[in-house]
Amino acid sequence: MSLNVVDVSSGYGRATVISAINVELTPGRISAVVGSNGAGKSTLARTVCGLIPCRSGSIAVEGTSVHKLSAAQRARAGIVMVPEGRRLFGKLTVGDNIRLGACAASGRGKASVQHVDTLLDAFPILRERWSQRAGQLSGGEQQMVALTRAVASAPKFLLLDEPSLGLSPRLTQEVFRLIQLIAQETNAGILLIEQMAEDALRLAQDGHVLERGRITISGSADELRTSPDVRAAYLGRTH
Ligand SMILES: Nc1ncnc2c1ncn2[C@@H]1O[C@H](COP(=O)(O)OP(=O)(O)OP(=O)(O)O)[C@@H](O)[C@H]1O
Ligand SMILES: [Mg+2]
Repeated sequence: MSLNVVDVSSGYGRATVISAINVELTPGRISAVVGSNGAGKSTLARTVCGLIPCRSGSIAVEGTSVHKLSAAQRARAGIVMVPEGRRLFGKLTVGDNIRLGACAASGRGKASVQHVDTLLDAFPILRERWSQRAGQLSGGEQQMVALTRAVASAPKFLLLDEPSLGLSPRLTQEVFRLIQLIAQETNAGILLIEQMAEDALRLAQDGHVLERGRITISGSADELRTSPDVRAAYLGRTH
């Protein structure tokens, strides 16, 4: 079960923002896409989940093209995005937010209940906050709720748009630990979009560098992390 993004381009209005993008997601693997502000990372995530149309190229799950499906249809097919800025229902409780994810699963795999339990066992803070309004949580806690809600919707592929945004280094590590557990536990293929290149490439198995809408380097995450070119351009620099 793989998701293949092949030669994809997309953009807004008359502007083409990303071009000739090739990325493959496979079960249980984390693929990092790193790049600076405005490189087109969120545009890539939006294109894969169907919020904006794919202008050329194809997106396929196990050989069946999905790029003409609506975002809702793609979500039902198991392509789930956790957008930049988390987008929780701030006035609803943590528990209700997570239960909404489970509604979205609508019969697609009861296993998600078990997966959520595993996450709650590993991160007890989520159970402690279960009845609290999501809007009252810290940024890191909200990110954990958003990830858990996504898992409750039984994803086959998860698109995570800058989960570390606005978090302290310590909370980033917590969130990344949760992402690793999600990959192991659910076997979803994960696209991890990040500006925190060093951390993301430590967590991921595969890596891509996105520059001005194009992937300029792809390889194993370790290769990228230790490459002098990538290090000079991206690592050691945070935001
Ligand atoms: N809704 C939109 N309408 C028009 N242009 C947009 C829209 N969203 C993004 N863009 C443009 O597309 C380009 C890429 O933006 P995008 O948000 O994909 O970058 P990003 O890599 O996610 O950046 P960041 O790290 O700041 O989140 C930018 O030039 C941006 O101005
Ligand atoms: Mg972005």
